[in-house]
Amino acid sequence: DDAAGVSEAIATMRVRGAPAIGIAAAYGVVLSAYRHYPASPDVWRDKVAEDMAMLAKSRPTAVNLFTALATMEAALDRISEQPLVDLLACAERLHADDVAANHRMGELGADLIGQARGILTHCNTGALATGGYGTALGVIRSVTGRQAVAVYAGETRPWLQGARLTVWELAQEGIQVTLIADSAAAWLMKSGAVDWVVVGADRIAANGDTANKIGTYALAVLARQHGVKFMVVAPTTTIDWSIQSGEQIEIEQRDARELLPACYHTPESLVSAWNPVFDVTPAELITAIVTELGVVMNPTEANMGKLK
Ligand code: MRU
Repeated sequence: DDAAGVSEAIATMRVRGAPAIGIAAAYGVVLSAYRHYPASPDVWRDKVAEDMAMLAKSRPTAVNLFTALATMEAALDRISEQPLVDLLACAERLHADDVAANHRMGELGADLIGQARGILTHCNTGALATGGYGTALGVIRSVTGRQAVAVYAGETRPWLQGARLTVWELAQEGIQVTLIADSAAAWLMKSGAVDWVVVGADRIAANGDTANKIGTYALAVLARQHGVKFMVVAPTTTIDWSIQSGEQIEIEQRDARELLPACYHTPESLVSAWNPVFDVTPAELITAIVTELGVVMNPTEANMGKLK
């Protein structure tokens, strides 16, 4: 109902996935304006700015949140006569642009994959994580619309986005999927069943280094070892041109209690947990980054620059 509710929903991951977080935050700004503009016409912009600062603190890694807030801030600076109409239109445009980008990336990614026996994906990158259709899952939807290919999804511990969301979304589409424990990925690749790993992204640096769900880096290392190609699918709203490399990406650490329930009969005083929920895959391990503006093969700063 209001920006605080949106902020809480993002922080507690009831809304999650980089593009969905950005779009939700944009609608959060609209809700803020709907509340404050009629109630305090003199200071409503200050109140909305406070809500935007609150939304910006909800999660740190997905840059889409900050890109969307910057877009809404620019819209706020431009408007005069009909602020509520203009702000809602801006949020709806962000939302619609994301859906269109996903469809375009789906086609580009499917073209690149061509014939393949199997695709492994990680986390959840479908309609639930975006404005609609999906990034990596959008590519998988497009590929499976063209040809038969085996789809594997990693569970994605500790939140199980793969098991709980990706499998469900694929089933809604009638797409057959095989769930694997994250730790089975090496053995699966060794079997020769997988030609491509296809994942989304939460923030991509100017040199192509990519932050995504924890476990993505491990998959990229394994893919290199087994001669499997590695595709990152993300709209350009996920690229942070202000940072040169992945070293500058803040990696969210979540509560140890997300992991500790798996430990039985262990004194709390003797066990702690380290719970980074994203990692950074170096660009040199990435075969291609697929965006709505085109595909960057062998990403480097120079190759990424062609998207600008
Ligand atoms: O912690 P989450 O569930 O928000 O993480 C989501 C991911 O890491 C996705 O892979 C990423 O946002 C790309 S979604 C289109």
